[in-house]
Amino acid sequence: MKAVIPAAGLGTRFLPATKAQPKEMLPVFNKPTIQYVVEEAVNSGIDDIIIITGKGKRPIEDHFDKSFELEYNLNLKGKYDYLEEVQAISNLADIFYVRQKKQNGLGDAINCAKKHIGDEPFAVLLGDTITYSEIPCTKQLIDVHKKYGGSTIAIEELPEYKIERYGIVDGVNVEENIYKVNNLVEKPKLADAPSNLGITGRYILTPDIFDKLNSIEAGVGGEIQLTDAINEQENVYATTFEGTIYDIGNTMEWLKSSIDMALTYDDVRDEVLDYLRQKIAEN
Ligand code: UTP
Repeated sequence: MKAVIPAAGLGTRFLPATKAQPKEMLPVFNKPTIQYVVEEAVNSGIDDIIIITGKGKRPIEDHFDKSFELEYNLNLKGKYDYLEEVQAISNLADIFYVRQKKQNGLGDAINCAKKHIGDEPFAVLLGDTITYSEIPCTKQLIDVHKKYGGSTIAIEELPEYKIERYGIVDGVNVEENIYKVNNLVEKPKLADAPSNLGITGRYILTPDIFDKLNSIEAGVGGEIQLTDAINEQENVYATTFEGTIYDIGNTMEWLKSSIDMALTYDDVRDEVLDYLRQKIAEN
């Protein structure tokens, strides 16, 4: 299976940080966001990855490229741990880049990968969303897709205050944590939301999605919306993701993700916790 990582968006919610750098390159503790995303694909068994880029996104390509000068200098200075880490990044996977010429929405970004994907189901991992779990989120989705077929969407149970910001699932429970989707409702008013199950940014899509993307009209915001195209598909399932998910395009979630990731490292965990305790005491 191949993976598509859309990373061409403008990142307006994170201005001014994203004025001259891609939001997908914002570090979460010690790594850029998109590195976590590529690692999730690789840890799910996918090593053929298409990243959708656009204007101002060159740092993403540079990050996954080989850096001769940097490697030469690290070697010269005997910084072999860093050298190994830097080399590992450029060996993670086969990564291809396609440019989305105009930021015309997530659906349009995915449509840019059509020729590379061909006629097979494929994974989509949003380049600004990271997940943290024992079994990678995309692997969890692949397992459900293998059982039920059809497009498969990762969802999470949302607290009420988040519902109006997400695509929400209207579906029927077919087994624990798995739903057959009737409809996806983009950013509903709380009172109109069919459930509290929100779309999280990880999908397995069947290739008929490309015909649907080509036949739908522009939706919310005048953009080609992926949810509109999925709503045209016959066989769609959703599964509750077991783990934690962070939308890095949202400043608060980015901050929480950095703290949570720092806490996973034994050598900094105590220092971070001491600092937080000190801040709580002061406030
Ligand atoms: P978002 O919905 O967060 O949109 O995209 P955005 O434009 O990047 O962010 P804001 O709303 O302006 O702050 C989700 C993912 O889809 C990609 C983004 O790069 C992000 O990884 N995307 C979005 C595209 O590749 N192309 C688009 O036209 C829109």
